[in-house]
Amino acid sequence: MSRRSGPLAPGIAFITGGARGLGNAIAVSFAKEGASGVAIVDIQHDVTFQEGRKKVEEFGCECLTIRADVTKEEDMERAVKEAVEKFGRIDYAANFAGIVGPGAPISEIDVSEWQKTQDVNSKGVLLATKYEMRQMMKQESIEVELGRVLQRGSIVNCASVNSLQSMPGTSAYTASKHACHGITKAAALEGRSCNIRVNAVSPGFLLTKMIESSVLGGDMKLGQEMWSTFEARQGRKAQFEEVGDVVVLMSLPRMSLVNGQNLFIDGGFTINESNT
Ligand SMILES: NC(=O)c1ccc[n+]([C@@H]2O[C@H](COP(=O)([O-])OP(=O)(O)OC[C@H]3O[C@@H](n4cnc5c(N)ncnc54)[C@H](O)[C@@H]3O)[C@@H](O)[C@H]2O)c1
Repeated sequence: MSRRSGPLAPGIAFITGGARGLGNAIAVSFAKEGASGVAIVDIQHDVTFQEGRKKVEEFGCECLTIRADVTKEEDMERAVKEAVEKFGRIDYAANFAGIVGPGAPISEIDVSEWQKTQDVNSKGVLLATKYEMRQMMKQESIEVELGRVLQRGSIVNCASVNSLQSMPGTSAYTASKHACHGITKAAALEGRSCNIRVNAVSPGFLLTKMIESSVLGGDMKLGQEMWSTFEARQGRKAQFEEVGDVVVLMSLPRMSLVNGQNLFIDGGFTINESNT
């Protein structure tokens, strides 16, 4: 066992919502830091999958694309199986598949749209965690520095500032992201005796396709002005790789005592009382 550092993250990464946006940025960050394989799991069109895979492969990392819906148990079981058949194990999971859901006050809410949001953002995280943990429980630890605590696997779930805060018209998204944090806490306690860590991250405001279509132009219609206010409170525009790199760091065995946490990647948005 060498005392010298090698690649930061030499294991296998498995990322739901990995074809584009923040999930893809995580896939790229793992590839950059020396992952030996990355599986991206999504329901996107082939073109988006291909673009997402290409960005990973540019760093010399093998990338497996898996079409699977996080709301379907049989899909998640199959997705983990396919990744393990290809790469032998899963060291770092990041559960980033998500949707914004309806932007309506509770008195007007369409309950089926509300439920769909819970299905993707909450049940989807649960199902992914279930099959990732089952695999991690079966495998030996990744190599860790001499004398350090073993790690059979790390899972990072995607919450949001809405796992702490809310605003009118966001009951579906807010409830789903609070649930994501709750699932993370229970999973963290269940996993620790097996050397599996489960944490969440809460990104701030990043102009992904999800935001472009639903917040700026679609269902929620919050508009450009409100988005600018959010970014001002965050301090600046954020880059996708700023989330990707944090997820890699959270996943490293050196983070051995960090478990069940929800790390805000928001430039100080949630501690800022002002809009500047
Ligand atoms: N962009 C932001 O400002 C922001 C802030 C906080 C949290 N988030 C969270 O980040 C995560 C990624 O979102 P993004 O902003 O990159 O948007 P995005 O739309 O670019 O990415 C989300 C991905 O999830 C996939 N997906 C949706 N439903 C799925 C399903 N049922 N099964 C499998 N895949 C599915 C989509 O196809 C898409 O590729 C989400 O969980 C979102 O809630 C985003």
